[in-house]
Amino acid sequence: MQFPEFENKVVLVTGATGNIGTALCKGFDRNSAIVYQTDIRETDRPHFIPGDISDQSFIAGLVERIMNEQGHIDVLVNNAGICPRTPFFDIRLDEWQKVLSVNLTSMFLLSQACMNVMLAQQSGSIISLASLAGQVGGIAVGAHYSATKAAIECMTKTLARNGAQANVRANAVAPGIIDSALTDQATPGQRENFTKTIPLGRLGRVDEVAGPVLFLASDLASYITGFTVDINGGLRM
Ligand SMILES: NC(=O)c1ccc[n+]([C@@H]2O[C@H](COP(=O)([O-])OP(=O)(O)OC[C@H]3O[C@@H](n4cnc5c(N)ncnc54)[C@H](O)[C@@H]3O)[C@@H](O)[C@H]2O)c1
Repeated sequence: MQFPEFENKVVLVTGATGNIGTALCKGFDRNSAIVYQTDIRETDRPHFIPGDISDQSFIAGLVERIMNEQGHIDVLVNNAGICPRTPFFDIRLDEWQKVLSVNLTSMFLLSQACMNVMLAQQSGSIISLASLAGQVGGIAVGAHYSATKAAIECMTKTLARNGAQANVRANAVAPGIIDSALTDQATPGQRENFTKTIPLGRLGRVDEVAGPVLFLASDLASYITGFTVDINGGLRM
């Protein structure tokens, strides 16, 4: 799908070397955006800046560097995340705090930093990766993971309220079960059970997550803010 309005737009994608992150970067790149990518796992892609998104000083340096190089940030995609499947009663405080830090605090800090830039520009779009797990309490994932994903939907509304006066939009997508490294951790039995419960009869593809994110980032969605798009094959409707 072509979204020609990304020409000369600067897009920042976190978790860029992951399954969905790679599809997002390809999608924006194909539509002529200047795509800055960051992840804790390194790659030699252009405009790639490695680092830990839960580190506040890394976030400050990341935004400063993009501003020095480009002078604007038009789209932020908060995609980085970790998904431990630790059973509820086995979650220890350090693991709880790590998941909150990587999945949620990073989204808050990076959105705050980019929102400052976008408010001054009087334009911008922030899209964050929530999850079906955040809506239903998690099926096979940890309580910390699903809690962060629920909070991302709420934080998205806060961002939308704070950005609206300056034409800065914030939305989220909530993927269901996507064929990716996260779902590879499921047993074959679990995958079969998932598939049976999905009305469209299959797991989602990473490009089926990237498409709605590109739509929300684009001017085609210029009157949509504070909203979460479900991408779950009808699993929750
Ligand atoms: N795959 C699914 O079924 C699914 C469903 C719902 C939501 N999501 C969400 O989509 C997003 C992407 O998921 P994915 O399936 O591509 O997972 P993935 O594991 O392939 O990608 C996540 C990326 O985040 C990076 N990352 C982890 N910790 C980091 C840190 N501290 N600093 C910087 N980068 C870090 C990882 O290195 C990885 O490249 C996540 O937020 C996930 O919660 C995925």
